Amino acid sequence: MDSSALLDVLKAKKASRRPVWFMRQAGRYLPEYLELRAKAGSFLNLCYSPELAAEVTLQPLRRFDLDAAILFADILVVPQAMGLGLTFAEGEGPVVEKISGLARVQALWRLDEAEEVRLVCETAEAVKSKLPAGIALIGFCGAPWTVASYMVGGGGEGGREIARAVAASGIEWFGLLIDRLIEASVSYLIRQIDAGVDVVQIFDSWAGDLPGYLQEDLVGRPIAAIITKVRAARPNVPVIVFARGAGAGHKRIGQITRAEALSVETSLPLTWARDQLAGSHAVQGNLDPLLVEKGGAALEKAVELIIGALPKDRHIFNLGHGMRPGTPPEHVEQVVRHLRKLDG
Ligand code: CP3
Repeated sequence: MDSSALLDVLKAKKASRRPVWFMRQAGRYLPEYLELRAKAGSFLNLCYSPELAAEVTLQPLRRFDLDAAILFADILVVPQAMGLGLTFAEGEGPVVEKISGLARVQALWRLDEAEEVRLVCETAEAVKSKLPAGIALIGFCGAPWTVASYMVGGGGEGGREIARAVAASGIEWFGLLIDRLIEASVSYLIRQIDAGVDVVQIFDSWAGDLPGYLQEDLVGRPIAAIITKVRAARPNVPVIVFARGAGAGHKRIGQITRAEALSVETSLPLTWARDQLAGSHAVQGNLDPLLVEKGGAALEKAVELIIGALPKDRHIFNLGHGMRPGTPPEHVEQVVRHLRKLDG
């Protein structure tokens, strides 16, 4: 890709404009998404139908003046490709087949032959061939801790507590599971890069579940291991790390992972992010998804405060977490318009 505002910021170059994209920018708040999901029959069928998934990836770009597309898939493609059952019940979160014990972890499949991975990479290729110039394609995976949380706890609030207790126990098979997920994530990201993604984001959505003393070992180090291996195999692909809820821990996670960008949750004060993180990383975030759902003057004020806190060349405008399903698309349009107006 020749030039893109997102890649410029990630590579610490002068950007033509402040890049913007939104986590879950493709999804249920868009009527055209719901139409294609109905056509596919289910969310998972949609993820594994490359032509439809590519179309869903491109849908938000037709509505909004965005700087990136994010590959349409899910972080739970990886446990499924490793052989675990996965279901998405309407209106509820995902349910993953639970595992525990050394033997079960050792029996997990390697990703190399997985049909699920092949289909997601086919989506990436299809998107790449249709993407307008200057728009970056973001690939992604879940971070080992968050994916392990689903594999150990099965999902849901209760599942997250089970996983947190297992993590704190320091039991051997859990460490091996993290290692297996590092290996799977490296292979998955390299395949996505070879299929055409320009940037990768690693989502550690449940980083904030862990006690602070485990953040370095279970969030920072596994993500750093992935990044080191991906960089050795495919240099020059920038990485965004989203350790959601890490708070002051973002600083250490940034030092360990040396990610080009750190994505930060809504509750993180951006003046802290500017002083502690922006010297060595681009900062991504952190608009409250609730305000985008509600709209109005409070939304515009929040946009102003965010862009006032971070310089254009070190900031990727985004949400602090994914778009809410009830968000009116007009409010997203309002955010992008306001941002462009203020940035000049
Ligand atoms: O537009 C995009 O952001 C790209 C696609 C994407 C999805 N999931 C599609 C999706 C991405 C990057 C993800 C990542 C993901 N998946 C994360 C990390 C980010 C985060 O939100 O913290 C996590 C934790 C998951 C697991 C997952 N998938 C959950 C908890 C849920 C249910 C909750 C919800 O929002 O409904 C999903 C389902 C899911 N993943 C949907 C979409 C569009 C909704 C499915 C539907 O159409 O019903």
